[in-house]
Amino acid sequence: MELLRFSAFWWGTIMFGSILLEQKMASSMTMLKLKLLCKFCDVESTSCTGTGNCMADCSITSICPHPEDVCVSIWRKKDDNVTIDTICHNPAHKLHGLVLEDYNNSKCEMRERNNMGSQFFICSCSEDECNDHLFFTPYSQVVSVILVSLVPLLVLAVLVITSFYWYRIYHQRRAGAKRKKTPLDFSDAHAIMMDDDGSDSSSTHANNLNHNTELLPIELDAQVGKGRFAEVYKAKLKQGATGAGEHFETVAVKIFADEEYASWKNEKDIFSDADLRHENVLHFLTAEDHKVEKQYWLITAYHPRGNLQEYLTRHVISWDDLWLLGGSLARGVAHLHSDHTLCGRYKVPIVHRDIKSSNILVKGDLTCVLCDFGLGLRLDNSLSVDELANSGQVGTARYMAPEVLESRINLENIESFKQTDVYSMALVLWEITSRCNAIGEVKDYEPPFGKVREHPCVESMKDSVLRDRGRPEIPNSWINHPGIQVVCGTIDECWDHDPEARLTAQCVAERFNDMEHPDKLSGRSNSEEKIPQDVSVTEIEEIEK
Ligand code: ADE
Repeated sequence: MELLRFSAFWWGTIMFGSILLEQKMASSMTMLKLKLLCKFCDVESTSCTGTGNCMADCSITSICPHPEDVCVSIWRKKDDNVTIDTICHNPAHKLHGLVLEDYNNSKCEMRERNNMGSQFFICSCSEDECNDHLFFTPYSQVVSVILVSLVPLLVLAVLVITSFYWYRIYHQRRAGAKRKKTPLDFSDAHAIMMDDDGSDSSSTHANNLNHNTELLPIELDAQVGKGRFAEVYKAKLKQGATGAGEHFETVAVKIFADEEYASWKNEKDIFSDADLRHENVLHFLTAEDHKVEKQYWLITAYHPRGNLQEYLTRHVISWDDLWLLGGSLARGVAHLHSDHTLCGRYKVPIVHRDIKSSNILVKGDLTCVLCDFGLGLRLDNSLSVDELANSGQVGTARYMAPEVLESRINLENIESFKQTDVYSMALVLWEITSRCNAIGEVKDYEPPFGKVREHPCVESMKDSVLRDRGRPEIPNSWINHPGIQVVCGTIDECWDHDPEARLTAQCVAERFNDMEHPDKLSGRSNSEEKIPQDVSVTEIEEIEK
């Protein structure tokens, strides 16, 4: 044991001693950094031409005075006088105002530097006598070396840019050719209502935003409408060139300013449901975000006859026209409200919430399409409490149902929203009837509740609709026509004060279907029908006789 302790002590002492020795040697090695041997002739004439390589031809080799010194050579040409200096120099200090950057080199590579009035090359290096053999790299050579190494990069960049350019041109041409082959047809607007991945959006709430940075080639024409949130323009949608020149489709473009983003987004989201497609709902083509102009666009079918209010202002209509306009309006609203498509598949019911004659367009065949879904609401299960809470009083005061004017809509039953649409639809049916020659003498167009003010406020509508329980007048003289009689009965049921007592839009649509031949209606018993408010029972009895 004693022996073991003794040997451990000596072993430790030896190890400790050797570590100390090693450290000491290392520090003295740094202190004893060897001084370089350099050519040291100061300024001498030389035969070096300043190109290629040459010897300094200095006969003095000297041990540099300081261990930090490196070998330096300087070649100068002033007029015809060519000289070389060979010296030792500490690179931590500038030499002729220049920092020596190459002093770690083993060879002396002469680089041309700017020097007033003379041609000037300098090199530095850190091996014995390395400043004897000089290698010249003229400035122009440095530049050409850089250029030569950059040229392949430049060529590559040009190649990449040109191929990208041609790729874009090729794609644009192909897209143009495709458009030429399949001109945009409103009967097939669905063709461009595809998601980006090309999947059919028919059963989903697809996002129809044209995400392409490439916007549709559209040229705006005249303004045809102006609403609360947007302006509508007639526009040309270019369809590519044909033999006979450039071909285009006329479309309507609804333009929302930046601040009306919410309205654009709501309308776009409503339109993006492919199940909304119906002959009595405005055909939607696409939505575009015009970032540059800070505008949002909705592109839809264009209907040159304009909106129903304008049409009724300018035209007196026949019974057949009334039947077409009224029936199609009811079918459009019924489709919107329905929870199934024509094929019986589930669809999300939608409420419009701003049905009025200026939000209905007249098609060439005198049927209606519903438009302006800026206040529309999808009655799906995901409807948030916020959305429901905010859905109290929206729309146009003139067309607001009594429960909307009072803000007493039953938010727990989604049918309540549909009932408010039916009330507004009743007012539009009244407007249509008021301009039909089957009622007898037709007066100038007047909106429901007359021209009290262009835009009556909620308070004045409350007075008429709630306090006085007033409705637009249905004079006795109107109901001489059997068809008009059914229409007026229907209108009366649709604007009932009690929302629950109102007909559904589907029921109104069916009534119009049944009215195709009004002469056959004359024998029909009115006992099933409600009596219009200001038509007395005796008067109806007289009519029935
Ligand atoms: N006014 C508003 N929308 C319109 C459309 N799509 N066509 C014609 N006139 C309009």
